[in-house]
Amino acid sequence: MFLCYIFLIVSLATYLPGFHVSSCDENCADKPVFTPSRLVVKHGDPTSATCSVKNVYEIFSLEKSKGDLTTNGTKILWKVQNMTEWDIFVMCYYEHADHQCCSTLPITVYKPPDSVSFSFRNHSGPLLEGHQYTLQCEVHNVAPVENLIVTFYRGQTALGQLQSNNTEKKPVTEIFTLNINTSKEDDGVQYWCEAELELGPEGPQPPIVLSSHQRIRATVLYKPQLLVPPHPDQITITEGSPLQLNCTAVGNPSPSYTWVLPPSSLLPSNSNVLTIKSVASEHGGQYTCEVSNIMGDVTVMFHVDVKPNIIPFIVTIAALVGLAVISGLLIGVILYYKRYRMGKYSMKDVFRLKAQHVAVPIIEKI
Ligand SMILES: *[C@@H]1O[C@H](CO)[C@@H](O)[C@H](O)[C@H]1NC(C)=O
Ligand SMILES: *[C@@H]1O[C@H](CO)[C@@H](O)[C@H](O)[C@H]1NC(C)=O
Ligand SMILES: *[C@@H]1O[C@H](CO)[C@@H](O)[C@H](O)[C@H]1NC(C)=O
Ligand SMILES: *[C@@H]1O[C@H](CO)[C@@H](O)[C@H](O)[C@H]1NC(C)=O
Ligand SMILES: *[C@@H]1O[C@H](CO)[C@@H](O)[C@H](O)[C@H]1NC(C)=O
Ligand SMILES: *[C@@H]1O[C@H](CO)[C@@H](O)[C@H](O)[C@H]1NC(C)=O
Repeated sequence: MFLCYIFLIVSLATYLPGFHVSSCDENCADKPVFTPSRLVVKHGDPTSATCSVKNVYEIFSLEKSKGDLTTNGTKILWKVQNMTEWDIFVMCYYEHADHQCCSTLPITVYKPPDSVSFSFRNHSGPLLEGHQYTLQCEVHNVAPVENLIVTFYRGQTALGQLQSNNTEKKPVTEIFTLNINTSKEDDGVQYWCEAELELGPEGPQPPIVLSSHQRIRATVLYKPQLLVPPHPDQITITEGSPLQLNCTAVGNPSPSYTWVLPPSSLLPSNSNVLTIKSVASEHGGQYTCEVSNIMGDVTVMFHVDVKPNIIPFIVTIAALVGLAVISGLLIGVILYYKRYRMGKYSMKDVFRLKAQHVAVPIIEKI
């Protein structure tokens, strides 16, 4: 690192007139200080920085590849009216007792991208489920591309972030790619990308973010997938009841339904739900529902067992049983009454009581 640094200084010295820095002392205690300590400049903008040292030195200056200097005592003001360079070098130094102390000013010259475009690489039209596709985000004319972060989105969910390792300082156009595998859940989802220039706290706030103008709504083709159990239990149903067989499925394109019905049965149906208002004995048997689209098909089989309607029979039995129970109860009550109630009185008492009751009013009336 240090050797590279010396090499840089020496190579600069060969073509910068009046440059006489030979070597910087890395262990220098009081290095010149730049304010601000780091510059982030938009290409074409003015900029400036000040270099200060603690004492007045005979040799105190600033090397630069662009800009003007104003020296005043222990400060040097460096100024650029229009930052037209991409890779700029600024170094402040002083000499003291055969030692040279230097500091370089880190400068980032940036340019926001002209545009960001999004596409599926080498593909247009609908996607197939379970295949791999490549998302492509093209960022046009951005500098420095090293500071760019590209994010791919599926709806509002970030899928991944990418960064370039190209160290070019001038504006470049770069293509970022991300592979995805499609599933049926991707149908109708929007894909897009975003480019952010990450320039740190000295950079523009909020950071520059550009979204792709294109947002691609994916159409994913997939074979029918049942929303009902694929192996329904045997259905036992009573004559006269309604029957519904449901083989609803989702798919893209929308699936079509074909029913294969037991012989001697109903009209063919193209609906996802087969409805019989009132089941008759001939409706028993195996029903097959075939769901299909261009991507594939799936079959559901229903076994329907029709039972004769025994409710009228049960009602008759219940009525007879009820009648028998009521009759039995009545007979029981009568017998009970006869035995325990009537038995307490002799028939003679009953007649005597009756006779008295009858006799008394007659007497009174007379
Ligand atoms: C800066 O320089 C560039 C190229 O020389 C020029 O196009 C631009 O207008 C200048 N900007 C200002 C603010 O002077
Ligand atoms: C130098 O700086 C001092 C104070 O820091 C100021 O008074 C003086 O005007 C400056 N001289 C020039 C030439 O800018
Ligand atoms: C994909 O597109 C790129 C250009 O975007 C092209 O260079 C490449 O050959 C294409 N690949 C296939 C497999 O079509
Ligand atoms: C960038 O870095 C990745 C690994 O981090 C590497 O695979 C790729 O080749 C590099 N690209 C360039 C242009 O150096
Ligand atoms: C996509 O599927 C392929 C195989 O079909 C697999 O190798 C790859 O890792 C998958 N990629 C992602 C992002 O799931
Ligand atoms: C058929 O099943 C689907 C999925 O479970 C359900 O949404 C739909 O309401 C059912 N249709 C009928 C008529 O029961």
